[in-house]
Amino acid sequence: MKKNIKKNNFFYFSITLLLLSLPIANTNALSKHEPIQPIPLQVNVNKKLAALGKMLFQDKRLSKDNSISCESCHNLNKGGTDQKQFSTGINGTIGSINAPTVYNSGFNYRQFWDGRADTLEEQVAGPVHNPIEMGSNWEEVITKLSKDKNYIQLFSELYHDGLTGKNIQNAIANFERTLITPNSKFDQYLRGNKNAITLDEKKGYDYFKSYGCIACHQGVNVGGNMFQKFGVFKKNSDNSQEINKVDLGRYNVTKKESDKFVFKVPSLRMVSQTAPYFHDGSAKTLREAVDMMFEYQLGRQAPDHVKDAIVKFLISLAGTTLYQKGDQ
Ligand code: HEC
Ligand code: HEC
Repeated sequence: MKKNIKKNNFFYFSITLLLLSLPIANTNALSKHEPIQPIPLQVNVNKKLAALGKMLFQDKRLSKDNSISCESCHNLNKGGTDQKQFSTGINGTIGSINAPTVYNSGFNYRQFWDGRADTLEEQVAGPVHNPIEMGSNWEEVITKLSKDKNYIQLFSELYHDGLTGKNIQNAIANFERTLITPNSKFDQYLRGNKNAITLDEKKGYDYFKSYGCIACHQGVNVGGNMFQKFGVFKKNSDNSQEINKVDLGRYNVTKKESDKFVFKVPSLRMVSQTAPYFHDGSAKTLREAVDMMFEYQLGRQAPDHVKDAIVKFLISLAGTTLYQKGDQ
C-alpha cells in the first residue's frame, strides 16, 4: 500500500479508510478491527407488511400493460437482478443502465446508481412511473388493485388509510428490508470461525485491504455507503467510448461539475451472481470487473494470483437468503 502509489488521490482514500474504520471498532468482539462487518442474522420487520410487499413486488399489475413486475428485472433467484447488460421494460423497451441487485439494498445509504432516492420507499415510485420500465402511475395501479378483494382487505387491515400509492411504497420497502443475505462463509469468518474461509479467500481479503479496494467497498454491504468517481485514474472520457447521459452519474442529480462520472459505490455482497458489472454493464465477468477496478480506481497493476484471490474472496461474500428459505 505504501509503495508504488504516487497519486494524491490514493492518499485521500487511505485517510477515508482510517476515518471510516474508527466508529466501527469495538462493536463486535471478533470482527472489531475489521472494516467489513457481518450482515445481521435477522431483520426486524413486520411480517404481515413484508408479506404484502412481496405480493406487490411480484405483481405485474404495477405496470401499464400488466406485463412486468419488479421481479421481472430483480429476479430473486438470479441474485436480485436480471443478469442482463440493460433491463427490458414494457413494450420490449431496452433501458440504458444496469439493474443492481435488490438483495441487501436496505443497507445502502441511498438508492440508484446516482443516489437520487434517499430511501427504499422513495425508490419504488421510480420504476412504476418510468415510461421505459413499468410506464404507469399510482392512479392506474390503484384502479386495478382495488378490484382485488384480497388487497383491499390486507391494506385496510394494515394501514388506516387503506390502499394508496404511499402505502404500496411502504409495503414493498418493508419486503425489500427482508432481502438480506446473512451467514456467508466470510461472515462466519468475521464472527470468529477461522476455518470458514480457505487460505486463498483469506489472502484475497488481505489483498482487497492492502491494495486499497476497501477504501471504497466497506461496511456491512462492502459498498453502498459513499459516492466515488468511476475512473479516478483513468477518466471515462479517456476511453474512446461514447459518453451517454447515464455515465454522468451523480451529476444528473446535482449538476455539479465535480459530480461528473460519480456513482454510489455498489455493494459487492452478491457480485458472484450479478454479472454483467458496472452501471453500463460493460464488464462481462467478475475477473474483468476486478481488472478494471485496478486500472481505473487504483491506477496500478497486480499479478494474476492477486486478482484471482480477490475474486475468490468476493465469491465468499454471498450468504443465504431468507427469501429462498421461505421464511416470510
Ligand atoms: C424494467 C426493469 C426494472 C423494473 C420493472 C424495476 N426495476 Fe428496479 N432497477 C432497475 C434498474 C435499471 C435500476 C437502476 C436504475 C438507476 O440507478 O438509475 C434499478 C434500481 C433499483 C433499486 C436500487 C438498488 C441500488 O442498489 O441502488 C431498487 C431498490 C429497485 N430497483 C427496486 C425495484 C422495485 C421495488 C421495483 C418495482 C416497483 C423495481 N425495482 C422495478 C430495473 C428495474
Ligand atoms: C475509488 C473508489 C473505489 C475503489 C478504490 C475500488 N472501487 Fe470498485 N467500484 C467503485 C465504483 C464507484 C463502482 C461503480 C462504478 C460504475 O459502475 O459506474 C465500483 C464497482 C465495482 C464492481 C462492480 C460491482 C457491480 O455490481 O457492478 C466490482 C466487482 C468492484 N468495484 C470491485 C473492486 C475491487 C476488487 C477493487 C480493488 C481492486 C475496487 N473495486 C476498488 C469504487 C471503487
